Amino acid sequence: MFYPDEIIQEVRAQNDIVDVVGSYVPLRMRGGRHWGLCPFHQENTPSFTVNNDTQFFHCFGCGAGGNVLTFVMRIEHMDFVDALKLLADRIHFILPQPGNSHAQQQKHRERSLTAEYNKQAARFFYDNLQADTPEAEAARKYLENRGVSPKMQALFGLGLAPPGWDGLLKHLTANNRDTTLIELHNAGLLARSHNNEKRFYDRFRGRLMFPIIAPDKRVVGFGGRIMDNESDEAKYLNSPETSLFSKSSQLYALNLARRARAKELVIVEGYMDVLALYNAGITNAVGVLGTALTTRHVQILRRAGCETALLLLDSDTAGTNAAQKSVPLLLEGGLRVKVLQVPDAKDPDEFLQKFGKERLGTLLRNAKGHTAFQLQLAQQPFDMEKTDDRIRYTQEAAALLAPLNSEIETDAYVQEIAHTTQIAPSAIFAEIKKQREKNQQNGDFSHVTPRRRVQRTNDPGLRDAKKALLCTVLSHPIAAAALQNFLLAEEMGDAVLSQLLAFAYDFATQNEHQESNKSPPAPPDIVSRFKTAEEQQQAFDVFSKPIAYSSVSEMEKSLNEMYQIIKRAHLDTQIETDGAKNDLNAVNIALNTKKTLQNQYISLANG
Ligand code: CTP
Ligand code: MN
Repeated sequence: MFYPDEIIQEVRAQNDIVDVVGSYVPLRMRGGRHWGLCPFHQENTPSFTVNNDTQFFHCFGCGAGGNVLTFVMRIEHMDFVDALKLLADRIHFILPQPGNSHAQQQKHRERSLTAEYNKQAARFFYDNLQADTPEAEAARKYLENRGVSPKMQALFGLGLAPPGWDGLLKHLTANNRDTTLIELHNAGLLARSHNNEKRFYDRFRGRLMFPIIAPDKRVVGFGGRIMDNESDEAKYLNSPETSLFSKSSQLYALNLARRARAKELVIVEGYMDVLALYNAGITNAVGVLGTALTTRHVQILRRAGCETALLLLDSDTAGTNAAQKSVPLLLEGGLRVKVLQVPDAKDPDEFLQKFGKERLGTLLRNAKGHTAFQLQLAQQPFDMEKTDDRIRYTQEAAALLAPLNSEIETDAYVQEIAHTTQIAPSAIFAEIKKQREKNQQNGDFSHVTPRRRVQRTNDPGLRDAKKALLCTVLSHPIAAAALQNFLLAEEMGDAVLSQLLAFAYDFATQNEHQESNKSPPAPPDIVSRFKTAEEQQQAFDVFSKPIAYSSVSEMEKSLNEMYQIIKRAHLDTQIETDGAKNDLNAVNIALNTKKTLQNQYISLANG
C-alpha cells in the first residue's frame, strides 16, 4: 500500500514524539530534552533522549535515532505501513483505504464478536458462581478456603462454568439469535467434536473461571481451574489461540496492575498467586499464563509504564529456569530486573498462607538485582573449598559483571566475589577488563560510556562532511541550487545519502520555478520518506548534529570545504574502480577533474 507524503506528514505531525515515546519509555525532563533508558540497548543510566523541538529521538549510547515512525517501527518490530496505521489509529485519523480488503474486515468482525461473546460468557460464569445452587456454594467455599473473599471474586470477575456440556452454549445462542456455533468456536468458548464436526460443546465445564481482561477492558480469554485436585483432568485450561487471545501476549490482571500506576511490576507464574498478592495489598502484580515470558510481554510491560520488573517465581527448578531465561529478555527491553524466589514455600500464594504478608513485604523490599541472582546461580555448581572451582566461578562471575556500565555496581559485586572466593579484587577486575575487551571485539559495547566509543567507520572526516553537506542543502535551498552544478546525487556513494541529495535538489528546483519561498520540509518528514528503520536511521544521522551558520558567507565557506572532501573521495573511488577495469580513458578524465578540483569554487552570492 502506498500512502501519499501529505498523509504521512499529517500522521507524523499529529503524533507528538514525546507522547508516543513516553508511553513506552518513562521519560524525565532535563536540559530542554526528555531523557530515559534506551529501549534499544541495555543501559543503567539514561542516554536516550527525545527532543520536542526537533521531534527526533536519539540515544547517545547506541546511536539509535529517528522520528516517531522510526521509533514505533523499531519498538513494535513493525514495517512502515503498520507503524503508520498504529499512529493513525492513535489520533483517530482515518487512512485512505483502497478497497479495505475483505479479509481485513472479516478479521475485525471476528475480533469484536469474540470480545462480545467473551463478555457475555464472563457475566454468565460470574452469575453462576454467585447463584444459589449447591455447586456454586461449593465453589465459593473452595475460594474462601483459599483466601479469596467475595470482594476479590467480584474484583477479578471470577466465575464458575457449569458442569454440563452446553450450559454456556444454550445461554449464548438464546441471547444472540444470529449467533452461529462456529463463531462461538472461533471465540474459543466452544470445542468441536472430533468424531462429528457438526457437534459443538462447552469448552470449559465445571471449572472455576478466571477472565483475562486486557487494559482496554475487553475480555480476551479465560483460564479455568478444576476444583478437585484428585481429578485427572488438567488443573488449568486456557482459551485457545483466537483472534483476540494469545498466551504469549497476555498478562493476567494487567488491567488491574495498570491502575496501580506503579513503576515496578511484580511478575508471578499463577492466577492464584496474583490473587493472593492482591489480597495482601500488593496490587501491582501480573501473571504469565503458564508460558515462558516473551518479548511481547516485555513490550507490554514497558507500555504499562513499568521500569522495574520483579520476577517472583515458583521456588522449583522450573521457576529458576524461567527466571534465568526471562532476565535477558527484560534487560534487552530496557527494564531493570530483580529476582526473588520465596523460601520454604512452593509459590508466593503458599508463602503468604504460611508466613503472612509482612514477611512477604520484607522479602519484596529486599529483592536482589538480577546480577546478584545470576551470580548466585553461577556459584551453585562450584565448591569454594576447591581452588579450581574458585577460579572457574570467578571467571564466570567476571563474564556476568562485564556488561555493567556502572563502576560502583561493579565494585560492589567484586568485593562480594573477592570475599567468597578469597581472590584479590584486583585480579577479578583484571578478568572483567579482559572480558570487556573480548565483548568489544564481538561488537558489544554495553559497558562503554558514549564518550569513549570508538568511531566505526575508517574515514570519519568524509562521513561527517557528507552529513554536514546534506544537512546544509536540505535546509538551505540556495545552497542546494548552487551545489547542483558541481556534485551529482550519485556521487555521495551511498543509496540513502544520494536520495537525500537528489531530494534537496528537487526541492530547490521546484522552489526556484515557483518563485515561492516555501520553507524546506521538516527533517522528521524527510526521514519518513524512507521506509525501513535502517534507512530512516541513516537519514536521521544527517540531522543529528544540526549546523547553524551565522552568515551566508560562512555557509559558503563551509559548503566548499565539504564539497572538496566529498568530490575528492568520489574521484579517488572512481580512479580505483576504473583502474581495476583497465579503463584508462576514464581514469584520465577523473585524474584531470581532480587536478582542477582545487580551483573550483561554489558561490552563493550570485546563485
Ligand atoms: N497452567 C496452565 N495449565 C496447567 C497448569 C498451569 O496453563 N495445566 C498455568 C496457569 O496459568 C497457572 C500457572 O501455569 O496459573 C502456574 O501453574 P501452577 O503453579 O500449577 O498454578 P497456581 O496458580 O499456583 O495454581 P494453584 O495454586 O491453584 O494450584
Ligand atoms: Mn499455587
